[in-house]
Formats: sequence, structure tokens, C-alpha cells
Amino acid sequence: MAKKKEAHEEEQGASTSVKNAATFASDTEALFVGIDLGTSSSVIAASNGVREVVPSFVGFPKDNIAEELLGNQPLFGEAALKHRLSVNLVRPLAKGVIQETKSGDNINLKAAQLLVKHLLHLARPKPGQPVYGVIGAPARASIASKRILVDSARGILNAVMICSEPFSVAYGLGILDRALIIDIGAGTTDLCRLHGTLPTDDDQITFDVAGDYVDNEFAKAVRAKHPDVQFTINMIKTIKEQNGFVADSADKIIVKFPVKGRPQEVDVTAELRAACRCIVPPTIDAIAELIGSYDPEFQEELRNNVILAGGGSQMVGLPKLIEQGMKELGGGKVRRVEEPVFAGANGALKMAKRMPKQFWQMLS
Ligand SMILES: Nc1ncnc2c1ncn2[C@@H]1O[C@H](COP(=O)(O)OP(=O)(O)OP(=O)(O)O)[C@@H](O)[C@H]1O
Ligand SMILES: [Mg+2]
Repeated sequence: MAKKKEAHEEEQGASTSVKNAATFASDTEALFVGIDLGTSSSVIAASNGVREVVPSFVGFPKDNIAEELLGNQPLFGEAALKHRLSVNLVRPLAKGVIQETKSGDNINLKAAQLLVKHLLHLARPKPGQPVYGVIGAPARASIASKRILVDSARGILNAVMICSEPFSVAYGLGILDRALIIDIGAGTTDLCRLHGTLPTDDDQITFDVAGDYVDNEFAKAVRAKHPDVQFTINMIKTIKEQNGFVADSADKIIVKFPVKGRPQEVDVTAELRAACRCIVPPTIDAIAELIGSYDPEFQEELRNNVILAGGGSQMVGLPKLIEQGMKELGGGKVRRVEEPVFAGANGALKMAKRMPKQFWQMLS
């Protein structure tokens, strides 16, 4: 116990010295940004008040005709999706990280760089204004994945810091102690245990049952039950975003799908519920692991402070179902942040304003 106290005091000392260290905040000319580069959507929150979300798609016009129609510049987000038949559509991130391509042309890195540039353009920095940005990465992203994220900001930001996404959510909420953050994204679900210091690998768990997984399960179930209906994964994702739920009782969810070109009404209630529920068992396992390996004196406080964030946390009834699942762990309290989609970028922005210079990587 004494050892633990000493260690705690040391950590306190470390955090005090961090607090007093020089930050970029003295650079009054600078623009600070928090960027959550996600598998599904990318979010920027800037110190000038700009907040934007862009679906993480980049579209490169396919040929001369497409260029005549769309211009020769890449398209982003909704615009890229809208013209997906005329562009080579790139989704640069999968499972929360920028994917390396086999061909060596690194189209995903190029697309991610363009996406960061686009986000920054939306943040409207003044000409010549230095820009310092914190970018979120999955809780246990590899060193290589973090390096490639840094590369995505090269030539765009003046300095960059990569930080664990669930930790940035916690930092944004001002919750740094005895809480468990669960960020349910598209590619990954990221858990992070907070205990008053920077989390280490042991405090974090990442698994890839998240929004994309739910979409695939939902698509499989609809196809199995209604082999004739025609749909794309984007249609499935939209239905989930409009109706996603996990509760036993719910209004029927009837949607229209084309069958041989004609719209037909289909009841997808059971399939959608089952797909959305896929998130729960691995989440309970991960919660059990993070709580079970924590100081026994504080386990109860941790159990009662579980916070959900990320787009996938918006499924109706999810906090309650996780609470039910936690009964076998001794119970718990689960709530959802107010702004699930912005929580990561808000926290990254707050961190950008406060983190000492030694934590940053200068890019120019
Ligand atoms: N209302 C909703 N109900 C259910 N799921 C939703 C809802 N809104 C968004 N989603 C899902 O949330 C996911 C996107 O969340 P988010 O933007 O946090 O992910 P991301 O940061 O892009 O992904 P990752 O963190 O894995 O890189 C998508 O799978 C999306 O379909
Ligand atoms: Mg995310």
C-alpha cells in the first residue's frame, strides 16, 4: 500500500510538472484543432469555434468525363458518396487506422492526408496562422499506425500529437479518475479505464465489433430472410442509424427495399435488434477484464461510472442493456455522453490547448 501511495505521489508530481510546463497556448496567433479521424466519420473542433463532421470518404474522379462533370479535384464526404459511380471511392481508414495498401501507391495515406487538409480547410485558419492539432487513434493503436497518422498531418499541421480516442473523450469531459469510457465507433470499440494519470496499454482494450460489424450482421440477416431484396451496405447503415435499437420491446421497423426494381415493404425489426445487440457481449467481457484487474477498493466506483461515446453508442436502449449485462459483474451504472459524435474531437481540442510542448511532434 505504501508503495502504491509513493507511486501515486510520484504520478501527482509528474502531472504537476506537466501542468507548469510550457505549452503552445502562449502562441496567441495559433489555431488549435482536435481531429477525430474515424473509420466512418471524421470530426474537427477548432479553437475558433468551428465544428464539422465529414463522412470519411474521398472520391477521385474516374476519367475525363467524370472530371468534366465534377472538376479535377477530389470530393469529400457526402459529395464523394453522391457521385460514387463517377469517382474512385476511397475509405482510408478501417478498424480505426489508416490502412496500408499492398500496391505500394499508398492511396489510403494520400486520401487521409487530403481528408485532414479538407477538415482544416473547413476550420478556416487565417493565412499563415500556425496550426497545432491533436489527432485521436484507437486505444491500442500500434506504433506503425500512429506513425502513419502523423504522416497524414505532414505539410498540413505545424505540430501534431496522437492520443488515444477514449482518453480524449474523458479529457474533454474533465473526467480523469475512476471512470470507464467506451467509445463505440464504426471500425472499433475502444475502452479506457481512467485512474488519474495517463492511461497505459493495460488500461485499454480495443476490439473490432463496432458499427461496421453491426452493418454486416444486419445485411447478412436481411439477405438470409429476404433473398430477393436489393440493397447496398450504405442503405443498411442508414436504416441502422435511423432506427438502431437493442430493447426487447420496440415499434415495428418497416423499410422499403427494391425487389426486381420495385419497392417492397419489409419488416426488419428482429434482424436489426439482433445485429445491434452483437456489441453487448464483447463489451461486457471487456468491462469485466478492466474492472477485474483494477484495485479492488475502487472497483465499485469504476463500475458505477461507465460512459458511452461514439456514433455507435446512439443505439436506443444500449446503456440499459449494458447495465443489465453488468449485473453478473456486481451491477453498474452506464450513461451516454451528450455529444457522442463530437466528444473525441472536443477532448482532443482541449488537450491541444493544454499539452506541454515536449509531447508534440513538430512537423514544420
Ligand atoms: N443513431 C445511430 N444509431 C446507431 N448507430 C449509429 C447511429 N449514428 C451513427 N451510428 C454508427 O456509428 C458509427 C460511427 O461512429 P463514429 O463516428 O464514432 O465512428 P468513427 O470514429 O468514424 O469510427 P472509429 O472510431 O471506429 O474509427 C457508424 O457505424 C454509424 O453507422
Ligand atoms: Mg472514433
